[in-house]
Amino acid sequence: MVLKGSQVALRAYRAGDAPDIQAWVWGDPAVVPHPAFWDHPQSLAETEAFLAAMMAPQPDPPLAVNLAMALADDPQARYIGGCGLHAIDWRNRNAMLGIVIGRPDLHGRGLGTEAVTLLLGHAFDALGLHQVGLTCFEYNERGLRCYRRCGFREEGRLRERRFCDGRFWDEVRMGITEGEYRSHADGR
Ligand SMILES: CC(C)(COP(=O)(O)OP(=O)(O)OC[C@H]1O[C@@H](n2cnc3c(N)ncnc32)[C@H](O)[C@@H]1OP(=O)(O)O)[C@@H](O)C(=O)NCCC(=O)NCCS
Repeated sequence: MVLKGSQVALRAYRAGDAPDIQAWVWGDPAVVPHPAFWDHPQSLAETEAFLAAMMAPQPDPPLAVNLAMALADDPQARYIGGCGLHAIDWRNRNAMLGIVIGRPDLHGRGLGTEAVTLLLGHAFDALGLHQVGLTCFEYNERGLRCYRRCGFREEGRLRERRFCDGRFWDEVRMGITEGEYRSHADGR
């Protein structure tokens, strides 16, 4: 699957992505300064296990959509990050969204906003979902702004759930419904 925007393309993961994932996502504390999903530097074997999980066949209907990000004008579509929908609940037509851009030099240039918008289009138009949620820590101002720009609204907070830089921070829960996505898209 390829979802293409003006700056980014979302494609399936491929076996050759492991070194870029290792170098860009897990190797640079500037990317994820306070990692939520791991607590130690990842070995290549661990990265390959992660990649295998991303590439594993999904049931039909799928429980997750895992996509790699590439620059739209890169003919090799080299990995720059990943995004996806997980915990897809088909009965209630909702899912959770996640994203990481692995190269800090590409942060703050609108790629995240474009990727999330592409993914929401896929969620609502192709998969027929009704609501997409996410969580983001309070200190991640860039993430929070990116999600708001895509039409997400704050739904609540798990207070002081995360300790870093000498204090506790809230975990912010955000969400967007199909209707909100469509009115947001109309307003763009
Ligand atoms: C979070 C992330 C996906 C956002 O993607 P991005 O391409 O960097 O974001 P965009 O450029 O599309 O939008 C960033 C928004 O934050 C603002 N911003 C940029 N740099 C910022 C900074 N250092 N601090 C606060 N806000 C910042 C931008 O002005 C923009 O807001 P606006 O649209 O209201 O002007 C990306 O930065 C990333 O992968 N970060 C590391 C991993 C991560 O935090 N993942 C999300 C976990 S919930």
